[in-house]
Amino acid sequence: MNKKLICLVLLGSVIFFCDGGVTTDFCCSQPCQKRGVCISKGLDAYECDCTRTGYYGENCTTPELSTWIRSILKPNPNTIHYLLTNYKWIWGIINNISFLRNTLMRYVLTSRSNLVESPPTYNADYEYKNWEAYSNTSYYTRTLPPVPKHCPSASMPLPDVKQVVEKFLMRQRFIPDPQGTNLMFAFFAQHFTHQFFKSDFKKGPAFTKGLGHGVDLSNVYGDNLERQHKLRLFKDGKLKYQVLDGEVYPPLVKDVQISCGRNLPAGVQVMATKILEHGREVRYQSFNAYRARFNLEPYNSFEELTGDKELTADLKSLYGAVNSVELYTGLLVEKPRHNAVFGDTMVEMGAPYSLKGLMGNPICSPDYWMPSTFGGKVGFEIVNMAYLRKLVCINVKGPCPFVSFKVPEDKMYNLAKINPTVLLNEQTSEL
Ligand SMILES: *[C@@H]1O[C@H](CO)[C@@H](O)[C@H](O)[C@H]1NC(C)=O
Ligand SMILES: *[C@@H]1O[C@H](CO)[C@@H](O)[C@H](O)[C@H]1NC(C)=O
Ligand SMILES: *[C@@H]1O[C@H](CO)[C@@H](O)[C@H](O)[C@H]1NC(C)=O
Repeated sequence: MNKKLICLVLLGSVIFFCDGGVTTDFCCSQPCQKRGVCISKGLDAYECDCTRTGYYGENCTTPELSTWIRSILKPNPNTIHYLLTNYKWIWGIINNISFLRNTLMRYVLTSRSNLVESPPTYNADYEYKNWEAYSNTSYYTRTLPPVPKHCPSASMPLPDVKQVVEKFLMRQRFIPDPQGTNLMFAFFAQHFTHQFFKSDFKKGPAFTKGLGHGVDLSNVYGDNLERQHKLRLFKDGKLKYQVLDGEVYPPLVKDVQISCGRNLPAGVQVMATKILEHGREVRYQSFNAYRARFNLEPYNSFEELTGDKELTADLKSLYGAVNSVELYTGLLVEKPRHNAVFGDTMVEMGAPYSLKGLMGNPICSPDYWMPSTFGGKVGFEIVNMAYLRKLVCINVKGPCPFVSFKVPEDKMYNLAKINPTVLLNEQTSEL
């Protein structure tokens, strides 16, 4: 009797595999829209869980009345971006009326940060919600679940990583930021993000060493208590210091032992290649899937994505269909917004994470944000009045050098015609 059962099971799986194998899982074609969750019901059936998506129907595509009204009233992200970054005089007035300013700021901040789930839902090893994805903080959290292992990741095989990097990502010609943002910003941003974006490559690209998952200042104070304590004086809340020639300096390192598309400089080629490889290893969903997740219209064609004929032809030959374009490639080849280096996806996807991270930090809670937390009025004043120029200038002797996240106005003129090497040298010496 047992043998019969085994035979039946074997026969069943043979039929299962002959039938096109597990790829007949309907959920692989991602039929559920608007963040609905697909539930597989055997070989040729599925069900969408549309709970709280604001939509209903077989594929969660029919808007509920309130969703429909909201979608009519809501301007598209590019219009909002334009309104927020232009009309200085209107913003001047709004900023002067605290009720208006607070209401608007609250709307802008929460509407963005609400796009990021809290508590976190997915990581690279689980395509469904589960306790491990929530509690094992050595994983990076994921906005979209990985493409399930039994699903083909794209309609045609993904192109060779090296080819993608060389063709679409590497710099052909130096493209200065139209807003004049300089290298200081890039360095600062990198130093800042290293408190949470620290892949633990010993475990694999899906794992982070930044166990605080946010702004925990481990980039400044070290990533564990022992390192932090080496910096602390344990008196009056101060950090260790040394006095040289009557001036205060941080302690010596030996005493504390703390150790737009097509614009990537040659130095980061290897990194770009790794990013693509890791993205495939952890099975990222497509660029278009991420756009949909952040309420942006998926691109219908390569032309629409890049706004560039040559890029369109090359992308088409490598990726075949616009839905196959990978996240990283898509972010970097996307047609830039007016007066910007990146397209809308970078901002609409990045901003929610930045804001969620900052607003989720205890320092932003009303119970922390008061003078006594910072040792009194003087400390609070220092925190409130901290800005980049001050940080540098109170730490250098003599006249303060040029300190900014932007190229000086008079150097902006004809920026594109300047030889990039000269430009970089000039900026570096000014910094
Ligand atoms: C739902 O999606 C499936 C697969 O894409 C499609 O065949 C079906 O017609 C869709 N149903 C509705 C109601 O649109
Ligand atoms: C806002 O208020 C400041 C002083 O509080 C004033 O100098 C400025 O002109 C005001 N701006 C506008 C646009 O009303
Ligand atoms: C987190 O997941 C990894 C990979 O499955 C595992 O090796 C590790 O032990 C887990 N950590 C904890 C604290 O459960």
